[in-house]
Amino acid sequence: MLTRRGRRASQVLVLAGMGGVGKSTLALWLAAEFRRRGRPVWWVNVADSMSLRGGIVEILRRLGAPESLLRDVNDAAPTAADRFWTFLAERPAGSRNALLVFDNADVPSVLAADGTSTPADGAGWVRKAAGSSPW
Ligand SMILES: Nc1ncnc2c1ncn2[C@@H]1O[C@H](COP(=O)(O)OP(=O)(O)O)[C@@H](O)[C@H]1O
Ligand SMILES: [Mg+2]
Repeated sequence: MLTRRGRRASQVLVLAGMGGVGKSTLALWLAAEFRRRGRPVWWVNVADSMSLRGGIVEILRRLGAPESLLRDVNDAAPTAADRFWTFLAERPAGSRNALLVFDNADVPSVLAADGTSTPADGAGWVRKAAGSSPW
């Protein structure tokens, strides 16, 4: 993840394991390496849907996203994840080569598009890039 660049570097990395094995610690190390290389890092606590939406809204606000998109995310609109990734695909300033960490994903459905499907279907919050299927 640290050495590959550009479009091809867009990828998903899943750290799985019991609580306490060191997932967040490893993600924090990776985040520090990104920062050291001048790459943006976004860290979102996805323990529950409200926390996820709050984190995404904060990212979008910093990237200057339109109010309608912030509202969609706030209101948990079904199109919110699609719009988020479409917005990122336009590569707004400050988003290039970013690391987006979803921490505390104990309930995977929180990351899914509608809260009941799987985050692995590429329709939710976890994606490589707009429109592409995950891993
Ligand atoms: N490689 C490691 N060596 C020793 N201690 C570690 C290591 N990785 C994590 N820890 C410690 O283990 C504890 C749990 O780590 P954490 O990253 O919070 O786990 P998780 O996110 O998987 O629940 C923390 O106190 C952390 O400092
Ligand atoms: Mg953790």
